[in-house]
Amino acid sequence: MKILYLNPAGHLGGAERVLLDLMAGMREAKSDWRLDLVTAMDGALVTAAREIGVAVTVAAFPRPLARLGDAGAGGPAGSQMGLWKVCGRLGAAAPMVGGYLRRLRRTIAESAPDVVHTNGFKMHLLGVWATPRATPVLWHLHDYVRMRPMMSRLLRLHARRCAAVVANSRSVAADARAALGADVRMFTVYNAVDLARFNPDGSRLDLDALAGMAPLAAGGVRVGLPATMARWKGHETFLHAIAALPRDTPVRGYVIGGPLYQTTGSQYQIDELRAIAGRLGIGDRVGFTGFVDDAASALRALDIVVHASTQPEPFGLVIAEAMACGRAVIASAGGGAAEIISPGVNALDHAPGDAAALAARIAELAASPGERQRLGTAAFRFAGQRFSRARLATEMTPVYRGLA
Ligand code: GLC
Repeated sequence: MKILYLNPAGHLGGAERVLLDLMAGMREAKSDWRLDLVTAMDGALVTAAREIGVAVTVAAFPRPLARLGDAGAGGPAGSQMGLWKVCGRLGAAAPMVGGYLRRLRRTIAESAPDVVHTNGFKMHLLGVWATPRATPVLWHLHDYVRMRPMMSRLLRLHARRCAAVVANSRSVAADARAALGADVRMFTVYNAVDLARFNPDGSRLDLDALAGMAPLAAGGVRVGLPATMARWKGHETFLHAIAALPRDTPVRGYVIGGPLYQTTGSQYQIDELRAIAGRLGIGDRVGFTGFVDDAASALRALDIVVHASTQPEPFGLVIAEAMACGRAVIASAGGGAAEIISPGVNALDHAPGDAAALAARIAELAASPGERQRLGTAAFRFAGQRFSRARLATEMTPVYRGLA
């Protein structure tokens, strides 16, 4: 069996990390299958995929195509462009798209796959345009289609050419069904994480040093929000929750992450968040580490991991990673994120955007090392059963077989 994966980005965002875990899981489970990957950009995904024995071709998008649409959105409705702007760019990109399609068609023909697996909106479309009719194309959805009106329409138009959809949660699957029509073959397959990297044992980052703060006093509790800087990730909810804690609560907050693009609008800049913390009077109680490469070491350095998305989260990879690291997690109960935790059993939750509720959960856990331990242990066990690469490969194998 030959699978050809198509991915627009070359860096390691959430969808790319899942793709990497999937390819690694497939290689382990089916060593005789051939896995090829085409990306439209170079980057860490390309290097990591080659390391696990995947043959990678970088077929770079021409500039207008690279700039088109919702790339870099970083999640639901992240940087949704105005429809007219998209149409304008689409028009400008049209001649280039033709050339790119010819190149993609050649690459697909050379690979001669049994299944083409696309992992990102642009590749869902380009994939169905460039793949021979006899070859099934599978769309792997990581985000809500209906959050992107233009893409939603385009995908619906081409849904008949898509042999099956894989969604990363039931919530994303339901949205896709509404967007694409009830006839699409839909599979819900939850993401995996690399449990060899994300586990309780291993190094811990010095978050205080990274944030330029004095070491936290003994007995202090570290509460962090590791997230991209997209505005819907709930940084303000988090800062308001820290501000709502009584001043003598021995908690220090950490905002872990940095903006990927130097644009304002859909993303926070760190200075902006610092200013908000200053206005809330918690400048001395919150640290900003900036982007960290080693996510697992950052998670292990926290006592409490907060996920605070203010819009429904399609899946919420950081929740799965934090659980795998045996952390006490407080997640925002919306979208797929609500499907992957059992509140009170292996994590706590709060309503999206509800800073007071989040503060109450933080206070509860900050006061009880035993409760943190109980939740962390349950989370670790749950993650071991549910988020392994092997499980991902086991669930995807029959999907591929059925299509081929
Ligand atoms: C997207 C989603 C996020 C999910 C990730 C991996 O980035 O917004 O919720 O965890 O894809 O599927």
